[in-house]
Amino acid sequence: MNDNLHQLRCFGCGVRIRGDQAGSIFRCADCGDLFEVEYPGWDLAGSGGRANTDRPNAGALKWLWRERRASSELLDHSGVWRFRELLPILDSFGHAVTLREGNTPLYHLPRAAKALGVDQLYAKHQGMNPTGSFKDTGMTAALSVAKERGFEWVACASTGNTSAAMAAYAARAGLKSLVLIPQGKIAWGKLSQAMDYGAVTCQLNADFDGCLRVLLTIVQQAPIYLLNSVNPYRLEGQKTPALEIAEYFDWSVPEHILIPGGNLANSSAIGKGFREMKALGLISRLPKISVIQAEGANPLVRSFRANDGEKLEPVQANTRATAIRIGNPASWRKAARVIHETGGWCLDVSEAEIAVSKAELGREGIGCEPASAVTLAGLKKLVAEGKIVPSDTVVLLLTGHTLKDADYTIDFHRGSLLEPGEAEPHLNEIAGLRRDAIEVEATPDAVLKALKGIQSRWV
Ligand code: F0G
Repeated sequence: MNDNLHQLRCFGCGVRIRGDQAGSIFRCADCGDLFEVEYPGWDLAGSGGRANTDRPNAGALKWLWRERRASSELLDHSGVWRFRELLPILDSFGHAVTLREGNTPLYHLPRAAKALGVDQLYAKHQGMNPTGSFKDTGMTAALSVAKERGFEWVACASTGNTSAAMAAYAARAGLKSLVLIPQGKIAWGKLSQAMDYGAVTCQLNADFDGCLRVLLTIVQQAPIYLLNSVNPYRLEGQKTPALEIAEYFDWSVPEHILIPGGNLANSSAIGKGFREMKALGLISRLPKISVIQAEGANPLVRSFRANDGEKLEPVQANTRATAIRIGNPASWRKAARVIHETGGWCLDVSEAEIAVSKAELGREGIGCEPASAVTLAGLKKLVAEGKIVPSDTVVLLLTGHTLKDADYTIDFHRGSLLEPGEAEPHLNEIAGLRRDAIEVEATPDAVLKALKGIQSRWV
């Protein structure tokens, strides 16, 4: 049976092509913009073509997806492929390459909720995926397409998480993988993963944007399948956390979702997930989706300030949240559309705000990597500005696992992460959160004495 019901639509000029006509860099031949996957059988926006016999029935889907939770089929154990009716991108779902991604926890954050005066605050932790980041949900989708189309090699440029995910899924599928990363600018945990999973890893003397430029030339010269998020199939997998969130809330939706912004595919994907659910009648309204960037890597924020997200000037990116150290984001138009259509905001947060928020999440027992913590920092600002009110339900999307970048955490607690000028506005918060390891003599008395001394200082 052919499960494949999709086509690609150019986000810029609207031209529609078959999936296998996209070319190696996934840019429209007419206008150069990115593609989006669409399903003509759903006939959502009068996309024309066939009669809408393939349009899924919302009630039947909800029932089916719930039933699959008790299923023993491998595909149903994936939090991506459990929703496969909403991503019919393969000729056969039997070709899906899965590591049981998705099904990530939605944690309540009572302490942060209380501190901010927001009743219902949750963290959807995408760092709890098999390779420790949200990239797994996209990789299972796009790498399965690569495998089905007969590619032997796959490749990506990465700030680390995409490469870890790609290398793992390629290894599962028996494909070879090439990783281009900015030298010295990715966290060790991520680099180690690419090596562990057997990727050919090249460290280039360039930033992420430079690595991607090099890769785009390579894939036009060699039969290598590009797995960066310009590949629209990635977004089909990455939209499924939106479905998980809606299902968790019994198909009502939270008022707000806050998402870190780097190359801006994830916010685009989550927005697409909610948009499609609404069009199919699975939910009745959209959440406000806001994108949070680091101050030093904030091209979309600048674009919204300057021209309401109509034009984007690339920036020279710099932030310790290396996952989102991206100055020329590929999917910015898609993300801008999501912000506009949902009524969300685009804002940036400082290095100290990120560090404090990450430590606060840690104190709730929820570790995450620095890029994820921009969401809590952004929430504080939106609450302070009255854009999020106490009765709102808020979901922060945490994108990566805390062990991805242990150096960052240790530097924070040792007091060596931030420059004095950066830390200055947050000295009290930082003092309350820091937990440096202390050296103590190997006797019970010495440990108890240390404990006494500390109790008076630590809150
Ligand atoms: N959070 C983490 C942990 C990430 O790794 C990334 C992106 C983002 C947020 C931003 O998501 O790019 O879709 O806006 N990491 C990429 C990588 C670029 O190569 O791993 P985005």
